[in-house]
Amino acid sequence: MAELFVKQAKQYADARPTYPQQLFQFIASKTPSHNLVWDVGTGSGQAARSLAVIYENVIATDASEKQLEFAAELPNVRYQHTPPTMSMTELEQMVSPQGSIDLVTIAQALHWFDLPTFYQQVKWVLKKPNGVIAAWSYYLPRVSDAVDTVFDQLYSTDVRPYWDPARKLVDDNYRSIDFPFEPVNGADHTGPFEFVTETVMNLGDFLTYIKSWSAYQTAKEKGVELLGEDVIQKFKLAWGEDGQKVAKFPIYLRIGRAWDA
Ligand SMILES: C[S@@+](CC[C@H](N)C(=O)[O-])C[C@H]1O[C@@H](n2cnc3c(N)ncnc32)[C@H](O)[C@@H]1O
Repeated sequence: MAELFVKQAKQYADARPTYPQQLFQFIASKTPSHNLVWDVGTGSGQAARSLAVIYENVIATDASEKQLEFAAELPNVRYQHTPPTMSMTELEQMVSPQGSIDLVTIAQALHWFDLPTFYQQVKWVLKKPNGVIAAWSYYLPRVSDAVDTVFDQLYSTDVRPYWDPARKLVDDNYRSIDFPFEPVNGADHTGPFEFVTETVMNLGDFLTYIKSWSAYQTAKEKGVELLGEDVIQKFKLAWGEDGQKVAKFPIYLRIGRAWDA
């Protein structure tokens, strides 16, 4: 699925939201040590940047080299291109040895993975017994009643045929995604736990965000422009005179530990 993220890698880096401090603090409070994180499907490092402030080192991997090209370089983040599915040998060589990682994070990417293989590898690479996996998705931005109306119309009708079936797990806020892990300390379930991220956008940023969707790209390849002049006019009217607006994206976190306490 990584090929779905190649052509719009620049839009992706420019327009996708980053994540709030509360999310990272909550996750970090569940790992007793803060040495090493593996951020899988890192894209252009949206989560890796914040993790690098809390953890000593971050290994940020992605199956798309193009996405990684737009990631910010940081002294304690090692970006690594990987195949979409790794062998155990590749995992050890490209990521980390067995039992070496405090935390595996997956931001808005778990729905693209081959889960049985991935989970087996997560369990192998996590520190025993306290290693934690945290995976989150975010959902549709809320801007204003007028903008949301145009956006929801686009999302629920015109865009729908172009999403990959895996996107259903995001529509479901990761409630039904397979997540075979134990609740972390202080919790009695593995989520979803809810957070919100807020991003200031002008209309151009908002349209770039839509262009960064894999579905937008898929439609384009089939000769369909989802942001035609008529749709852009509707967004312009709905956006009004205010240049900048706050877009709020709800976040849904699944978090667990590989072993019982
Ligand atoms: C929606 S983006 C999320 C990027 C970033 N984590 C974020 O929070 O915005 C999904 C990313 O997962 C990557 N990806 C998809 N399948 C993958 C796989 N099997 N292994 C590694 N990365 C994968 C894509 O290349 C893309 O960069």
